[in-house]
Amino acid sequence: MAWNMIFWLLLIIVTETRVARRREPPCLTKDICPCNTYCSQQADYSVKCYPCHSDCEPSQGCDGPMSEQCQACKTGYTKQPGFSPCRASTCPVGTYGNQCKNQCHCHTNDLCVQGRCTGGQCERGRTGLPFCLEACPAQTFGLDCRLICHCKDQEDCNKLQGDCPSYQCDEEWDGPGCQRKLPKLYFPPQVLLSKCNNITLRWFSFDETDDIGQGPIGLYKVMMKQMNGDIWLNPVNVTDPDRSLKKAHVVSITSGLVPDVEYTFRVDIVASEFDKLLKRAVPGEPSKVILYKCDTEIALHKTNSTQTPLSALTTGRDKKEFNVVPEPAITGQRERIGEHDVTLII
Ligand SMILES: *[C@@H]1O[C@H](CO)[C@@H](O)[C@H](O)[C@H]1NC(C)=O
Ligand SMILES: *[C@@H]1O[C@H](CO)[C@@H](O)[C@H](O)[C@H]1NC(C)=O
Ligand SMILES: *[C@@H]1O[C@H](CO)[C@@H](O)[C@H](O)[C@H]1NC(C)=O
Repeated sequence: MAWNMIFWLLLIIVTETRVARRREPPCLTKDICPCNTYCSQQADYSVKCYPCHSDCEPSQGCDGPMSEQCQACKTGYTKQPGFSPCRASTCPVGTYGNQCKNQCHCHTNDLCVQGRCTGGQCERGRTGLPFCLEACPAQTFGLDCRLICHCKDQEDCNKLQGDCPSYQCDEEWDGPGCQRKLPKLYFPPQVLLSKCNNITLRWFSFDETDDIGQGPIGLYKVMMKQMNGDIWLNPVNVTDPDRSLKKAHVVSITSGLVPDVEYTFRVDIVASEFDKLLKRAVPGEPSKVILYKCDTEIALHKTNSTQTPLSALTTGRDKKEFNVVPEPAITGQRERIGEHDVTLII
């Protein structure tokens, strides 16, 4: 009888334990799933391991598929205590990624989302949306690579500012980033008159609409050259305090001229910046070639020139004057408001 009782008791205990064992969720058993996975009990009490959310720290595991269920967040991500998702840690503006070590390259770094420039514009000197990791193509720079380099000898310029490695701009350019096109008169000066001891030139005020390059201008450098030589002389400068007034500038060169020599003239513009003259000027267009004629004795008397060549001293000539017919092409295009004369005695 006692044995019977014991047998039945044992049977009940064993059975109940078995049932209890069976009903205990298998996922509560420690280490049933590997790292970075979570355990999921199937309907038939079998077990499957699923990967944790990609934002979880792999070594810490998770309780389920959501980022909120990470035990810890991966590097560069943080979560608030409790049931909250992992979020990219807030890096200082303009940085992102692991320990905020990556630099944004967006025009507005407030619009940098994990390196992507959501504003649709790269910072100065860069291209290649959305990450803007590329420098501007050769010979371009600045915002949207829209500016053109103007360095001497076609050097490529600094992508931010346009500066040249040699610190020298191309001949026709100057200023910060070589972006100021130097002013130059579109038309050459006209030779209004060429007679003994008086070659008279005329040109019209620089005007950004009609001429080349950008003002403001400092002065006009009148240049002349003998056709059989290479040297341009600068007999006179003409300043123009009232630059806004469009007017004809008339200059007479009354000495230093050698008879029977062909001459050409040009007017170079020296630009100014903050009322200081720039050092460089673009050579102006040369005028038509003029053969200068003069009676040498009169020329000598008037100029008392020691530069008159021996040939001029010995070659007598009748006094001759001739006018050079001015071409009217330019006058038609310009409004003539005022005129000033400069007479030169060199
Ligand atoms: C030179 O010729 C111009 C034009 O005819 C005249 O206005 C100017 O007074 C002359 N200059 C001299 C020094 O003769
Ligand atoms: C004209 O101005 C330039 C400055 O740009 C100066 O170097 C030159 O000596 C001046 N020439 C004359 C004739 O005054
Ligand atoms: C010419 O210039 C020289 C000095 O270069 C001077 O001695 C002479 O008196 C001048 N002649 C005239 C006619 O002005």
